[in-house]
Amino acid sequence: MSRIPLPYNSKVMDLFRNPKNLGKLEDATIVAVAGNPACGDMITFYLKINQQTQIIEKAQFESYGCAANIATSSIVTEMIMGLTLEATWADITWQKVTEEIGGLPSVKFHCGVLAVGALKRAIRKYFNDQGSEPVWMPKENTFEEKQALEEEELANTLSKRLKPEEEKSP
Ligand code: FES
Repeated sequence: MSRIPLPYNSKVMDLFRNPKNLGKLEDATIVAVAGNPACGDMITFYLKINQQTQIIEKAQFESYGCAANIATSSIVTEMIMGLTLEATWADITWQKVTEEIGGLPSVKFHCGVLAVGALKRAIRKYFNDQGSEPVWMPKENTFEEKQALEEEELANTLSKRLKPEEEKSP
């Protein structure tokens, strides 16, 4: 069976082949995961944050997603380094990331949404761990965070359905 390759632009392909800031960041201040290992679409963001200035000094990622997810995650790390958490929260949306990467095939929009969902989850976790949410952070999850949750719930449901009967019983 032949598969038609997706029309990725050269920037996406380049970042997919040579992603920037890939790998674990040992001295990360915060680590957040989005996606589900059961379906393979999983991303981890590592952020090193200056506690005084709240500037993201370093950002790295690991991704087990597709080319679009790897490329969008890579460009997210480049876009946020040097920004404050507040500016990152306000400026980084899946639309902006998709634009920055030169566009994605519409069936791949969710891969960029997942990357931004993981980033926003990391920022929310940073403040939750400190026990104080800033006034600029909405109480309700953003679109990207909601989408990440939905993908995780769907993947969990599917992986349970696909488990052999004997594994399901206690
Ligand atoms: S991350 Fe799942 S298809 Fe791209």
